[in-house]
Amino acid sequence: MIGEKILVTGCNGFIGSHLSGQLLNEGYQVIGLDISPKHQAQNIHSIIGHANFKYIVGDVTDKALIETIIDSSFSKVFHLAAQVGIERYMENPIDVVRTNVVGTLNIIDACLQHACYLFFSSTSEIYGKNPNVPWAEDDDRVLGSTSFERWSYSSSKSAAEHAVRGAFKQQGLKGCIVRFFNIYGPRQSEAFVVSRNILRAAKGENLVMHNSGAQTRCFTYIDDAVLACIKLVMEPNADGEVFNVGNDTEHTVHEVLSTIVAISGKVLSIETVDTNENFGDAFEDIMRRVPKVSKIHSTTGWRATTTLEEGLSKTYAWVLNSIK
Ligand SMILES: NC(=O)c1ccc[n+]([C@@H]2O[C@H](COP(=O)([O-])OP(=O)(O)OC[C@H]3O[C@@H](n4cnc5c(N)ncnc54)[C@H](O)[C@@H]3O)[C@@H](O)[C@H]2O)c1
Repeated sequence: MIGEKILVTGCNGFIGSHLSGQLLNEGYQVIGLDISPKHQAQNIHSIIGHANFKYIVGDVTDKALIETIIDSSFSKVFHLAAQVGIERYMENPIDVVRTNVVGTLNIIDACLQHACYLFFSSTSEIYGKNPNVPWAEDDDRVLGSTSFERWSYSSSKSAAEHAVRGAFKQQGLKGCIVRFFNIYGPRQSEAFVVSRNILRAAKGENLVMHNSGAQTRCFTYIDDAVLACIKLVMEPNADGEVFNVGNDTEHTVHEVLSTIVAISGKVLSIETVDTNENFGDAFEDIMRRVPKVSKIHSTTGWRATTTLEEGLSKTYAWVLNSIK
């Protein structure tokens, strides 16, 4: 309902900033919580002065803080705050687990106490290296040993999913869980294959591809992902359920990088690096990552509609403008 008060954790992040902007456009009152200090909250500078937006700097692992923020005036919490990105989970798995598990437990407890709807953002990494694509929501998780930090992110999100599902089933919490598949677009940090290489192309630098580039991903443009989130929380039949949110068109990484070069109109080459040189032998790249999207489509009518070329072109234009 328009005017509802909504909390977005991780609101200065890539997805959180777009989601917060869209919720404000639709007339909601948005309270954004993020660990980033206000002066570094560059992703939300366009909304920070909005009359219906308030920014709180804080840590989701701080239970006392979460208890003071969430009260019964909130109708929904979009919980997006997390430690994200390969570098983070290879270098600092304890922070990954602490934020993604402890932070989520704090949010669950506060939502239960005040009967707030909880949207929990999970990940396609949940499925690990299951070779049988496309993955449906109840498909197996196939992971490597805990000796390899690489699996800490997937494990932390799956522990959090178990807790959220438990709160749905045993304690009557309302909400849904979304597993995002390779979301990209303006404002994404440079740590990811699309954002890093679009920035390189915009600066006239050669692109960098890990391994052969034969790995496939289903790249999903941010506007499609935000629309999916909003449709899901509006749909009573989505309550208590888990959904893949992704484009189901598969592209090789090489194809994506070639498209970026073509969009840039520059003469650039694609240089290859070995993932194991960067992250050691323990890093296992996932060769194919493809969602089944029939569940979200039959529940909400949503499908990703932005083509790769269209999404990359919009992102490239944004990056060019931002480095001027
Ligand atoms: N972008 C994707 O393709 C993708 C894919 C799968 C899952 N996800 C999930 O979607 C969510 C948003 O991802 P994103 O791509 O926007 O990542 P992001 O890193 O851009 O945003 C995460 C935000 O959380 C904040 N944060 C981190 N630790 C915090 C803490 N302890 N307390 C408060 N805030 C904290 C960060 O400052 C950041 O602004 C995450 O939960 C992520 O796991 C994203």
